[in-house]
Amino acid sequence: MRRFIGAIDQGTTSTRFTVIDAAGEILAFDQREHAQIYPRPGWVEHDAAEIRANACLAIEGALEKAGLSPDNLAAVGVTNQRETCLLWDRATGAPLHNALVWMDTRTQPLVDKYLAQGVGELVRMKTGLPLATYFSALKLVWLLENVPGARAKAERGEALFGTMDSWLMWSLTGRHITDATNAARTQLVNLTTLQWDTELLALFGVPRACLPQICSSSEVYGDCAGPLAGVPLAGALGDQHAALLGQACIEPGDAKNTYGTGCFLLMNTGETPHVSTAGLLTTLAYQLGDAKPVYALEGSIAIAGALVQWLRDNLGLIEKSHEIEALAKTVPDNGDVYFVPAFSGLYAPRWRGDARGIIAGLTRFSNKGHIARAALEAAAYQTREVLAAMTADSGVAIGELKVDGGMAANDLLMQFQADILDAPVVRPRHLETTSLGAAYAAGLAVGVFKSLEDIAAHWRASQRFEPAMSGEERARLVASWEKAVERSLGWAGQ
Ligand code: G3P
Repeated sequence: MRRFIGAIDQGTTSTRFTVIDAAGEILAFDQREHAQIYPRPGWVEHDAAEIRANACLAIEGALEKAGLSPDNLAAVGVTNQRETCLLWDRATGAPLHNALVWMDTRTQPLVDKYLAQGVGELVRMKTGLPLATYFSALKLVWLLENVPGARAKAERGEALFGTMDSWLMWSLTGRHITDATNAARTQLVNLTTLQWDTELLALFGVPRACLPQICSSSEVYGDCAGPLAGVPLAGALGDQHAALLGQACIEPGDAKNTYGTGCFLLMNTGETPHVSTAGLLTTLAYQLGDAKPVYALEGSIAIAGALVQWLRDNLGLIEKSHEIEALAKTVPDNGDVYFVPAFSGLYAPRWRGDARGIIAGLTRFSNKGHIARAALEAAAYQTREVLAAMTADSGVAIGELKVDGGMAANDLLMQFQADILDAPVVRPRHLETTSLGAAYAAGLAVGVFKSLEDIAAHWRASQRFEPAMSGEERARLVASWEKAVERSLGWAGQ
């Protein structure tokens, strides 16, 4: 009997498949990491064929663990790292080049070129997004300009463009589609019409023929083939939008912060896009079937969990990511050490492509515990800045912050987050809210879930962290962090 929902979560470092039931309980999941490819400093690529193969393995693995077959799934949803994109050959299905990952900075010269043309404000007003290396449009321009034959094939519709949702949905159903939340992160979509914007396509020189059809985030797109044969594909959302839904942030003013590879704070702002004056993104929260689109303000931080991975993989400071908490606990405080992880420049609220990572405040006294602590604290300081921008933009002071993602399991970080925000931090029962959100969107389309209120009823808190730091101590720490950030600015331009 088809009672369960599946969710593919195609993230920056891994691809996971989760099976949930109609009560929002997780039955089983399977996860596969893929290679991070760094051809040059600042460049980050993924092999899309590897990711597709990993998705298949994760699907088979999770179904086996759950003791289920595709026939038991009422629907499947897709959620994904946003902005990461590729071109592939319509006839053979082979990628023309590795996917360019959202944090890749190779398009900085293109950003500078368009900024010099004075079109930054036009682009931001239409798309809600500042001109930056983060978004897909200039990555596509780079692919069209640098992959031999790509432009001609794209113009003839023989090469197809897509973000990772689009790539997986094409692989599963044969349809060249994307959902509106992912499309809105390409910087080619008009945030009001939620359609490809003709003026922007002309500005960036993007051929319409290579672009997918934009669909809502919750509708039956088609039946899957392969390891999900016969299962309706019925939901798709960018991962941060899925987490917003998974955290039941369905009312204006509801907000969540996801600590993944990066850190992404989104606040539901209702049915009208809210233009930011404080360095935040205006973004689509979700568009569920025929319902009116719902918008959000977003503060994006490029590096959070990725810094822990960097300490693990590049410095060998820890063997497993979760060991960071024990290492950080070997010291009582940060010893006046600050780590600004501006590996891809600084995103919200500063948008400084010229910033680079620094560790500030080192003395003979500093040890690896201090570095670990500074690395964790960096996510909390950046979240504080984003939240301040959100309060300035929306006029709504967030009473408490709902958190999720892998790093939200870290008690030390969550307590520090509450301390540095001077606001409670609330951890839900399930940290995998991204997968839940995708499953909810798919379940809504096929009637397993009846309404957003039905979904929200499944949300439960598991732990609450209350602020316990003195105002004086908080002010001292924040002032030092800001000094460190000042030092990181302009480094890449020197
Ligand atoms: O915008 C990038 C974001 O979607 C990546 O999310 O979870 O892979 O860090 P994550």
